[in-house]
Amino acid sequence: MSLRHILVAPDPVLKATAKPVETVDDELRQLMDDMLETMYEAPGIGLAAPQVGVSKRVIVMDIAREDEPKAPLFMANPELVWVSDEDSTYEEGCLSVPEHYADVVRPAEIRVKYLDRDGKAQELKADGLLATVIQHEMDHLEGILFIDHLSSLKRNMILRKLLKSKKQVLEEAS
Ligand code: NI
Repeated sequence: MSLRHILVAPDPVLKATAKPVETVDDELRQLMDDMLETMYEAPGIGLAAPQVGVSKRVIVMDIAREDEPKAPLFMANPELVWVSDEDSTYEEGCLSVPEHYADVVRPAEIRVKYLDRDGKAQELKADGLLATVIQHEMDHLEGILFIDHLSSLKRNMILRKLLKSKKQVLEEAS
């Protein structure tokens, strides 16, 4: 396993629609394992392939607390098959939008079908934090960031700050 570089917004790969996975083979498992390691290292509770510059429909998650055993979830080609009418609100953050957090409203419960790390078809019902994380990561596959759920005023303010800190990093390096 190796760590991958996490892209920070604004970046064109983060805005692109990711391509479906054709087969879950060793190369894809390598990507999944690298993503999981990169996510744990960050640290974060979810990561989508576009965030490491790979435009494929792959997401990894683990919402276990530090005092709980690790519980990684790997999903290729995730699709929502049902969402609840009831919504819930969580304060979200994103490894590609560092140091910014905001409340996002999403369906409270979902059913998702996907291929697991062995390429086996699975279906999972999720609520609470897991439902939010899965929907947040699936958004990445459509080129959507959590800040796209905010008002354009808030979104542009955050993007300007991210761009400014990117420029500072470049200036310091030159
Ligand atoms: Ni994210």
